[in-house]
Amino acid sequence: MVSVLGLAACGGDGGGQTAQTPAAEGGGKQQVEVFSWWTGPGEADGLQAMKKIFEEKNPNYTFFDAAVAGGSGDKAKALLQSKLQASTPPDTFQGHAGAELQGYIKAGNLEDLTPLYDELKLKDVFPEQLVEQISVDGKIYSVPVNIHRSNVLWFNPAVLKEAGVAGAPKTIEEFVAALEKVKAKGKIPLSIGSEWTVTHLLESVLLGTLGADAYNALFKPGADWNSPQVTTALQSFAKIMEYAGDPQDDWQPAAKQVADGEAAFNIMGDWAYGYFHNPPEGGLGKTSKTDFDWAPSPGTEGTYLWLSDSFTLPKGAKNREGATAWLKVAASKEGQDAFNPKKGSIPARKDADQSLYTDYLADALKDWSSNKLAGSIQHGVAVNQPWLAAINEAVGLFIGTKDVKALQQALADAATANAQ
Ligand code: GAL
Repeated sequence: MVSVLGLAACGGDGGGQTAQTPAAEGGGKQQVEVFSWWTGPGEADGLQAMKKIFEEKNPNYTFFDAAVAGGSGDKAKALLQSKLQASTPPDTFQGHAGAELQGYIKAGNLEDLTPLYDELKLKDVFPEQLVEQISVDGKIYSVPVNIHRSNVLWFNPAVLKEAGVAGAPKTIEEFVAALEKVKAKGKIPLSIGSEWTVTHLLESVLLGTLGADAYNALFKPGADWNSPQVTTALQSFAKIMEYAGDPQDDWQPAAKQVADGEAAFNIMGDWAYGYFHNPPEGGLGKTSKTDFDWAPSPGTEGTYLWLSDSFTLPKGAKNREGATAWLKVAASKEGQDAFNPKKGSIPARKDADQSLYTDYLADALKDWSSNKLAGSIQHGVAVNQPWLAAINEAVGLFIGTKDVKALQQALADAATANAQ
């Protein structure tokens, strides 16, 4: 039995295997089941760094990696839902700050972590507006481990040069012109991955067309998704999609097309930085500014389209104490400074060691402290899970039909049905 559990724990391969009990291993160690979707290249490196600290600090516990493969967690979240419904939660799970987490709180899935915040004085170290996103009625329900940026345009400088594109396009119009130039050279203008990466692209195009204030207003009750401004944004989105390459299996192979010089552009969150930059065991070991470069996605300079991964304590966790030990590491300066440079994110804590955040991450830290904020759609900030499912369905249909009018109507219907 011990070896079976041991094998499963090393898997983390998306099989959705989970521990049955907080089983004691030979040495009397109890396992802590940590549920995430960080299995793939680039994604897993940060988790491993935090796991190492957790096991050093907690010799009585072993880390059970219950990660389920699939970028953006679409498969993981579906499995999690069934586990929560069956009252067999993991000991802790990854959830996005914002509307997604509010959904778990309102469903009564999570324990209040305010006592942990008081014990560790966490209110002093996390930004106030972030704590609001993980609170209901003054109670705080998760530990944010990072801040990611969604609106990043990754590009291959040599491919741009070859196509006669002077630099990163700053507006949607410049972007379309650049895509056309790359197409004329026979390279893939814009790489894309599985369907969720297209919704990811859509949020950047909405923000780049509408600006931060009008974008943020889309998520308020009664917002007008049928406005001419949204029509313009969706027409631009349709135009940009004409330049997309063949859909890749997930975000990594799409990002890799840029790093390998097969494609010019990819709009993806800054987890792509970890993947490009980390050494070959987990990443691609590419050279920044030569093999890949970055800029805010067209039209979005000055706005941080943000999201935050956070860990929770589900009600009914089998190993509550072990989960709390994990949350303490996730909340700590040491844990965040080990995790984030590998993950391609900046720490949620305000007191991190800034010298560790160089290259792309130095830009991210600077922009996070000075930019306007807008919440990601695909990654749980702006819309709850039913709303996101409706948006994903509309985008999925659009990929086949290319019907802008139908897309706009479906997005408007999704907002009417789900905005609270
Ligand atoms: C996001 C998540 C990131 C990253 C990305 C790609 O939803 O917040 O940490 O994992 O998906 O899988």
